[in-house]
Amino acid sequence: MQVLNVVGAGRVGRSLARLWHQAGAVRLGGVCARRTDSAADAVAFIGAGQALALDAMPPAALWLLAVPDSELAAVAETLAGRIDSGTAFHASGALTAAVLAPLAARGLATASAHPALSFAEPARAVREFAGTPVALEGDAAACQTLSALFAAIGGAPFPLAAAAKPGYHAACAIASNYAVVLADLALRTAQRAGLDAATARAVLAPLAGQSLANAFTLGPAAALTGPVARGDAATVALHLAGLDQVPADADAYRALGRLALQLAAPGLEPARIAAVHEALAR
Ligand SMILES: NC(=O)c1ccc[n+]([C@@H]2O[C@H](COP(=O)([O-])OP(=O)(O)OC[C@H]3O[C@@H](n4cnc5c(N)ncnc54)[C@H](OP(=O)(O)O)[C@@H]3O)[C@@H](O)[C@H]2O)c1
Repeated sequence: MQVLNVVGAGRVGRSLARLWHQAGAVRLGGVCARRTDSAADAVAFIGAGQALALDAMPPAALWLLAVPDSELAAVAETLAGRIDSGTAFHASGALTAAVLAPLAARGLATASAHPALSFAEPARAVREFAGTPVALEGDAAACQTLSALFAAIGGAPFPLAAAAKPGYHAACAIASNYAVVLADLALRTAQRAGLDAATARAVLAPLAGQSLANAFTLGPAAALTGPVARGDAATVALHLAGLDQVPADADAYRALGRLALQLAAPGLEPARIAAVHEALAR
């Protein structure tokens, strides 16, 4: 069985290592972090491996570099001074395999493998990993190895071109992070209108959940409802009159309203499009 060394024993490193260990897909070698107690904690979570410093890691066929993106280049440079074979990969959504160039120059196969899942809570990420899409990019040989490795833990690997990574990662950030910002905007708007926090959550959570689910099943244009979709400029103006107390929120409403209007425009009369456009510009 191939040995896996894990450099960076945080949320992603310990979760993936535990999944591969539980699946019997690898034999855990060394686990390294900045702090020794953190590496020891990760070893306990994984249930295998040895907490070691980077320069004491054993030989391995697989090297997972699960350090923060800002540390990847430096760690790759340091490792390149010690190893000259195997497959090295990182889990960043934004960076490509190119950040591992010092290791590629030493003869390693290199790749990036981004699981589209939040690892905020490792125990939960381990429980919910099955079915997670994993964007693979890099050397053909490394991608082939990783495709089998992620499939062994129930992941759904798919190929991604290096040039597509920034756009791919922006899309993931919009879907995940900005959906949270939209929830915050809606909750604050409801509370400013006088709803208490619990009522605001009870009203808005099902609405938001249903709308997002509809957008991905029916398609965004078919899922869009509300004043912009109806071409109702008077209601848009009414909303903005309230939101104008908080200029940043009103700006967000205007920007999102313009995107909603683009989506709705094919089904609206030109006069209604112009009226909504004008209401959003005020
Ligand atoms: N979090 C997510 O949901 C998620 C999802 C997909 C992909 N990713 C990607 O996964 C990678 C890791 O993210 P993460 O969220 O797991 O980070 P994290 O929880 O902050 O863990 C980073 C780990 O790296 C260690 N570390 C930092 N600098 C190091 C160095 N120079 N040498 C050795 N170890 C070092 C840290 O040590 P200490 O524990 O001692 O501080 C920690 O164990 C990133 O590329 C990120 O973009 C994250």
